[in-house]
Amino acid sequence: MLTHVHNITLHYEDQGQGVAILLIHAFPLSSAMWQPQIAALTPQFRVIAPDLRGFGASDVPPGPYAMDLFAADLAGLLDTLGIEQVILGGLSMGGYIAFAFMRHYPDRVRALILANTRASADTSDARAGRETNAQLVEQQGAGAIADKMLPTLLGANATPELRAHVRSIIERNQPQGIAAALRGMALRPDSTDLLSQINVPTLFIGGSEDTLTTPAVLREMHSAVVGSQMVELPGAGHLSNLEQPDAFNTALLTFLHAL
Ligand code: MLT
Repeated sequence: MLTHVHNITLHYEDQGQGVAILLIHAFPLSSAMWQPQIAALTPQFRVIAPDLRGFGASDVPPGPYAMDLFAADLAGLLDTLGIEQVILGGLSMGGYIAFAFMRHYPDRVRALILANTRASADTSDARAGRETNAQLVEQQGAGAIADKMLPTLLGANATPELRAHVRSIIERNQPQGIAAALRGMALRPDSTDLLSQINVPTLFIGGSEDTLTTPAVLREMHSAVVGSQMVELPGAGHLSNLEQPDAFNTALLTFLHAL
C-alpha cells in the first residue's frame, strides 16, 4: 500500500485485523525483513510494517533522516490509517526510532517491543564510522554496505540462503537513502533517561550471538524499565527475527497474548 505523509510517498504492508502492531525495520533493510512475523501474527493481529523514508518502495528525499523525522512519518502514517494507538516494535534502528516515537507520542503506544537495539547514542568514533560508511555507499552503492555489514548483522549459524536473502533486501535500497539514515543515526540523542519513564508493557528481545547490540546491553535496558520482560534467543545474531523466526514469533505471541 502507498500513502502520502509529509510530502513524500511511503510504502507499507497492512495485513490482518484486530489490535494494531507497527513494526519498524532495521538498517539498512526494509519492511521485507518482517515477512516471518507478518505471517505468524496476522491470523490474530493487524500488522503494519512501513518502508521508512529512503528504504524499500518509499520515496528517497534528501537527508539526513533524524530518528525524530522517521517517528513523525510513522505518526503521520497512523493518522492516515485512523489508528490512535499501537503496539510498537522496532529492531535495532527500528528501536532507535521507537525511542523517538515514545518521546514525542507516548500516548499512542499501548506496548513496546525492543529487539536488538540500544538506548545509548553513538560514540564519536561510531559517528565518524557512519560518515565513512555514508561516503562508501554513495560512491560504491548498496552492495558495498552489504559486504561491510553482513558479517555483523548475522550470526555464525546463519545459512548461505539467509545471507543471500538479507543481501538482496539491502541491495534493493537506494544508496542515497542508506547514507541519509547513517547520518541521521549519528545525530540521535541518548535515550537512556527515557527508560525509567516507560510505563507500558515492554518486551526486550536479544540474540545470544549479537555482537552489535549484545545481550548485556539488552539486559541493562531491561533492568531500567520497571516490569519489563526479556527474552534472549539462543543461536541468533543481530537480525534475530530472521535468524530464529520461530523463537522470535513465540516470544512476540506470548507477550501479546498476556496484554
Ligand atoms: C541496524 O541493524 O539497524 C543497525 O545495525 C543499527 C546501527 O547501525 O546502529
